[in-house]
Amino acid sequence: MIKTKLFTGITMSLLVMSQFTNVAALDNGLVKTPPMGWNSWNCFGPNIDETKIKGVADAMVSSGLRDAGYIYLNLDDNWMAKSRDANGNLQGDPTRFPKGMKELGDYIHSKGLKFGIYGDRGTVTCYFRDNFKELKTQSGSAGKEIQDAKTFASWGVDYLKYDNCEVGYAAPAATMQKDYTTMRDALANSGRNIVFSICAWEFKDWMPEVGNLWRTTTDILNHWKKEGSDWSWGILDIVDLNEKYAPHAKPGAWNDPDMLQVGNFGGNRAPTETEYRSHMSLWCIMAAPIIMGNDIRNMNQATKDILLNKEVIAVDQDSAGIQGRKIKSTNGLDVWCKPLGNKDGNVKAVALFNRNTSAATITVNFSDIGLSGTAAVRDLWAKEDKGNFTGSYSMSVPSHGCAMLKIATGTGVREMRRAVSNKPYCNPSFSNGKLTITPSIDNQLFSVALYSVDGKLVKKANSLKSATSFSIGSGMYYVETKINGISEKSMITTY
Ligand code: GLA
Repeated sequence: MIKTKLFTGITMSLLVMSQFTNVAALDNGLVKTPPMGWNSWNCFGPNIDETKIKGVADAMVSSGLRDAGYIYLNLDDNWMAKSRDANGNLQGDPTRFPKGMKELGDYIHSKGLKFGIYGDRGTVTCYFRDNFKELKTQSGSAGKEIQDAKTFASWGVDYLKYDNCEVGYAAPAATMQKDYTTMRDALANSGRNIVFSICAWEFKDWMPEVGNLWRTTTDILNHWKKEGSDWSWGILDIVDLNEKYAPHAKPGAWNDPDMLQVGNFGGNRAPTETEYRSHMSLWCIMAAPIIMGNDIRNMNQATKDILLNKEVIAVDQDSAGIQGRKIKSTNGLDVWCKPLGNKDGNVKAVALFNRNTSAATITVNFSDIGLSGTAAVRDLWAKEDKGNFTGSYSMSVPSHGCAMLKIATGTGVREMRRAVSNKPYCNPSFSNGKLTITPSIDNQLFSVALYSVDGKLVKKANSLKSATSFSIGSGMYYVETKINGISEKSMITTY
């Protein structure tokens, strides 16, 4: 009896220990830079079907969005049928997705994109809760996490946004952590690498250990600012709510201030073009996931210019993964700074943001952003080098506008690795107009090709065994390296 008890005691503590080990940090190697892509909710709401989604996939390629880094195509709520199949598996709505979710995933993958889907930790998703509650369908994954994770993996899902509806309000607070952790582990054991996006509308300390990204607020409205009876937040409110969580962001783990509204012109109280540009600027300064929420099959030029500005995207995608912060705010005029490359390095992205109703001059003091001496300033929206300045830089910023600057002292190279692989095959360095690429594995044949951001070949060298140098100017490039038949593409800026 005693022996049994002792044995049970040891078994229990081993179990507790192994559970504890399971709860260790999420390290699935994914989204080392903030995820980029598209989600259906902000523009289509529940009205999604196969034709629309395939049209979006096509547009992601033809518009150049995919090649600019937007690779996740994510379905939001209401993709599922009103009932599970005979085996209790989730299934796509048979009318709107007649070919099924696997076929849709295959189509998305055939376009060089990744497939994202939506689920819920409760018994019913938010849209089903509000619209089809009487059906008592279990569209949520409560208690069915392992089964649903396997179903998602079998469809080729690469990204799961996991919502927080119908969880039972009497549940203790710990239930939320337990449920998200259960799905994290179910995904980890599903046989597929799946980005885990927590959507619980607030930040909790455990989230960076459990998700690749976590929503810090309730839903973003297509408004500049919350007014009176609005049920949720505008862009400006969310900027301020998300800012304070900056210390928690790091490669593979991101604060998520919600999907973009950029380009959703025309609605009631829709933001202006200037405000959408500020939205994009501040999301990029905050190293936020850049998940578009507009109908990209029909974009006007202003929307394209905002979403496809590669220099602004590069700020978001900087490999150091530091979330920028508001470092000064005087009478509604903000200076934000995001160190690029490393925290104490000599390159900074700076946003000058005007919250006021008239244009104003905003000044960034170099000492406030950790730089001294003369610095080169580039305006990323104007795509113009402004020249060298000492001590500070000032510019006029329109009402609700946001300038994006890159301010750098000295010369060097900054690298933004695309989320293709985590193994760096090339180590770039830059000085005196020479870019040197050093392979990270010695004595293996490798090749290097350098492209402009428009995809034009600039330089190429094959059959190398050691470092090689190219004479080039300062600017942005794609570097493609190939070693042992594996190729890797990353984006660099030389300065
Ligand atoms: C919640 C989420 C939204 C969206 C809807 C869908 O409100 O926060 O982002 O997914 O559910 O019902």
